[in-house]
Amino acid sequence: MAFSGYRQVDLLAANRSLGLLISEKGKTRFTGTLAGAEKTVPSLSQDKKKNYILVPGEDGGFLTKLGIASENGVIHDKKQAKYRQINKFLEQIEAVSDRLPKSGVIRICDLCCGKSYLTFAVYWYFTYRLGRMTEMYGVDLKKDVIDYCSALAEKLGWDGMRFETGDVSRFSPPKKPHLVISLHACDVATDYVLAGAVRSGAEIILCTPCCQHELNSQLNCPELAFITEHSMLKQKLAAAATDALRAKMLEIYGYRVTVCELIDPEETPKNLLIRAVKSHGKWDGSSYGWTSGGEQELCEEYKAACRLLGVTPTLSKLLMI
Ligand SMILES: C[S@@+](CC[C@H](N)C(=O)[O-])C[C@H]1O[C@@H](n2cnc3c(N)ncnc32)[C@H](O)[C@@H]1O
Repeated sequence: MAFSGYRQVDLLAANRSLGLLISEKGKTRFTGTLAGAEKTVPSLSQDKKKNYILVPGEDGGFLTKLGIASENGVIHDKKQAKYRQINKFLEQIEAVSDRLPKSGVIRICDLCCGKSYLTFAVYWYFTYRLGRMTEMYGVDLKKDVIDYCSALAEKLGWDGMRFETGDVSRFSPPKKPHLVISLHACDVATDYVLAGAVRSGAEIILCTPCCQHELNSQLNCPELAFITEHSMLKQKLAAAATDALRAKMLEIYGYRVTVCELIDPEETPKNLLIRAVKSHGKWDGSSYGWTSGGEQELCEEYKAACRLLGVTPTLSKLLMI
């Protein structure tokens, strides 16, 4: 190796360092800890095994069939984000699963399921991880994707899965679902999902919205002009207002609602999760009315917020507030 022109070379490794000094007369001297230095080796966190709920090899093969993992069970680089997203969603389900019936069939709808990575993962979780009888409905507009998912469920022998091509605005589950999930239903499709879930009396709704554009064109609030005059900030305000009003609407209908992050915002900006758990003893799902105090107040708050912002969200039309 030629070091022409250099007077000092330093080699650094995790637990070793070695220096080479070259004097003006060309004499060389080694420095550092070539042998025996005991230092703590820093952990290489990327190599650390994460405690995911769903791991390849235990998934019945669906991760490979859906193109998330290779035949040897290695998650493809391009699917790492999706894999993490599914696992985070499963963690959210695990966190609320004590609110689901302790025995009997668990009925779940995944609305706007797309290629159904999440649908299969959630079915796997209840059926194989928790050992529960599970009925899962996946609904999406795309017939080719739904046909593919139906064929895959059949191939896997996962006979509690049903897929339906259709518009979620018209979907009505055959029986009351215990859990309605939806990941990244576009814009107002999320409102149709939420309205359908409320009408069907779902116990738990877990919904990660996507592209909340609707209110951006409606916002008309002179008091907030200092925000809305900047189009980027207006978009963020519209998105936040959309989801805040959705959360309030679910509260009106008797759900306890938490809005939280699904995954690290550095992975995707579409990382907000609306988690709604039916609070028993209030609205019973049989009509659009409510039975006790509190809901009326929430309703007034909702209407006042809409008036302030100058908006009429799709969800308020669907749930008639
Ligand atoms: C961004 S993709 C998300 C798919 C899947 N949930 C996921 O996270 O991988 C949105 C999906 O919503 C579906 N979609 C949008 N509007 C819909 C509607 N009104 N009824 C049914 N599906 C709809 C689209 O066909 C698309 O597959």
